[in-house]
Amino acid sequence: MASSMHETDLDWIRGQFPALKLKVNGYPAAYFDGPGGTQVPQRVIDAIGDYLTRSNANTHGQFETSRRSDQVLADAHQAAADLLGCEPRETVFGANMTSLTFALSRSIGRELSAGDEVVLTALDHDANFAPWKALEERGVVIRVAEFERETCTLDIEELIGLVGPKTRVVAVGYASNAVGSVNDVRRVAEAAREVGAWSFVDAVHYAPHGPIDVREIGCDFLACSSYKFFGPHQGILYGRAELLERLRPYKVRPAENTLPDRWETGTQNHEAMAGVTAAIDYLAELGGRCGGSGDRRSKLQAAMRATQAYERDLFRRLAEGLLAIPGLEFYGLRDPESFVRRTPTVSIRLKSTSPAEIARRLGEKGLFVWDGNYYALNLSERLGVEDSGGMVRIGLAHYNTAEEVERLLSELREIATRSR
Ligand SMILES: Cc1ncc(COP(=O)(O)O)c(C=O)c1O
Repeated sequence: MASSMHETDLDWIRGQFPALKLKVNGYPAAYFDGPGGTQVPQRVIDAIGDYLTRSNANTHGQFETSRRSDQVLADAHQAAADLLGCEPRETVFGANMTSLTFALSRSIGRELSAGDEVVLTALDHDANFAPWKALEERGVVIRVAEFERETCTLDIEELIGLVGPKTRVVAVGYASNAVGSVNDVRRVAEAAREVGAWSFVDAVHYAPHGPIDVREIGCDFLACSSYKFFGPHQGILYGRAELLERLRPYKVRPAENTLPDRWETGTQNHEAMAGVTAAIDYLAELGGRCGGSGDRRSKLQAAMRATQAYERDLFRRLAEGLLAIPGLEFYGLRDPESFVRRTPTVSIRLKSTSPAEIARRLGEKGLFVWDGNYYALNLSERLGVEDSGGMVRIGLAHYNTAEEVERLLSELREIATRSR
């Protein structure tokens, strides 16, 4: 069933997020910094406070608050499983995606030998590059798929051309956090499987913008971070059960050796996990409002499809406005026909104003954007902007409005005119 978001849903959505009421220098805050971190609905704040008030304890104890903590953790695993389309024991929580990916790459590294190959991309965030590149210390050979400069997209067939009999891991981003390009991760996972390699998908940027189904993708691992999809700072890793059981994580001896515990080193951030469940429940409720019905997973899928449709419309407006600004450099797919292959995240530059200065001027007007490389270091180096402040990133989320986009465009036009 086609789902969609209406004006009334947008009012409801915005009413859920207290931070959207913030004012800066008298201007309402407009958050275009979603790819760096999104705002949270009130229920996430409440869930974190409630955990600390009613359930705060360590796990597996013989008393009430500890039993409640066990339940909070079990609920978070179930919620993450509903979001990603897997079993709760296939979801691993950790500090953030970067830490989880380093932990995974080190464990995978134990199984690799000199001469084994890992395929990476130059489009990715460094958190899906450095942890794998570190395996060079073990003699592993790193192969890097380049992106096409004009559109900032990967040529998937070219990437697949790097996958061969020595490939052990292929790590690819679902979507670029800098320029929004979405990759055909299903095709990449299939190519990895064909040669007996494992596939790892970085879904951190994609997660707030579209539905995820790890079984449909057919990947072995997928990571995301709840602070990018309206939850607290918390990383989540999906791993195929058979592999999570087979690989050897670095763990302390007394910790359980069952799934997912063997991968969750030390004490978890219980309050954040309570917040993750609340964020996912928020999305499920949104899905229910947008035509979704049935179980939580179905509603989540509906929410993300509605989000995708709404954000595409809003991005069309943003892209059209940006492309009409004289002298503005627009990085990423720009043809509206291709917007199904991108998220509503774009990077720009203006000729004579530095990215930091643009971001500062916009920030003074309550318009929050990022400047720099946002850790997509290979990308900013290859685009030749690394030594001159990087770019300015504008990212839309489902709580942004057409009015906010118009405000941003009008300020950018003003800066562009003054800086010519
Ligand atoms: C695409 C992408 N991957 C990975 C990360 C790193 O995630 P975390 O902050 O959870 O380590 C980010 C954060 O910006 C990201 O955008």
